[in-house]
Amino acid sequence: MPTTTLPSQYSWSSSYHLCQAEQAIGVFDSGVGGLTVVRKLVNILPHERVIYLGDTARVPYGNKTASTVSKYAQECVQFLIERNVKLIIIACNTASALALDDIQRIAPVPVVGVIAPAAESALRHSRSGRIGIIGTRATIHSAAYQHALQQLSARYDRQQELCIIAEPCPLFVPFAEEGWHYHPATRLVAEEYLAPLKYASIDTLILGCTHYPLLTDVIQDVLPNVRLINSGEEAVTVASVILHDRNIHALQRSMNRTVECYITDKSTAFLNVAERFLGFPLSIVEEVHVGK
Ligand code: DGL
Repeated sequence: MPTTTLPSQYSWSSSYHLCQAEQAIGVFDSGVGGLTVVRKLVNILPHERVIYLGDTARVPYGNKTASTVSKYAQECVQFLIERNVKLIIIACNTASALALDDIQRIAPVPVVGVIAPAAESALRHSRSGRIGIIGTRATIHSAAYQHALQQLSARYDRQQELCIIAEPCPLFVPFAEEGWHYHPATRLVAEEYLAPLKYASIDTLILGCTHYPLLTDVIQDVLPNVRLINSGEEAVTVASVILHDRNIHALQRSMNRTVECYITDKSTAFLNVAERFLGFPLSIVEEVHVGK
């Protein structure tokens, strides 16, 4: 049983559907990135059934306005609710940054975003209070991580003041999808993007985009003594605590497929890279329409 305590925003008191252990966990992202979160989910909670939605028709979210991302995210949530999921993980930093509040207002089941769990973990691990954040332009400019870190830092008794350095790294998304994990071009771009973080002597870095775990090696190479926080992994830990607290965790492996995958545009791009992000092949991927 996990021992992590929940950030206060996850202590729901509103009316819920009566959830059952055998219902699936719903996960969505703008595209393929959220599969790194599903990978963690399958590792950490192997008995759970997962319904994944990748909004590939409208990817990327990272360069869109807050109102557009919020509308798309609400439509993804609606799709998952219709499939009777017991909990939803927003496996997209951009959607978590821009739409979590709107979604939590409408969703009848617990919704876990990636921001608060990752911020909490960064604060727990940082010794110096010098914390870096990297993500899409929309995530960084929303300042959602910066606010979460400031808000949650009150819980931590720290000698030094919190120092936050945030850098958008938009090119990391295509590099991760291209499979250029060790390519010299990726290394060069990583050095350029991460230079301000290195200069600021951060000791902890939040990977604030679900694509970035694929570039862990090159990021760690450029920032060798920095603790990397995988936002998706932290969200899965919080989801696990909620499932146990509410006693709706799956006790045995389901006879159905573990990961049911839906995308809004059946592009070959998704199918080609999905296995690399997930760590195992997807047997069936279905195209669906969400929204109006
Ligand atoms: N995976 C998304 C995230 O975590 C980034 C991709 C996009 O821009 O849609 O923010």
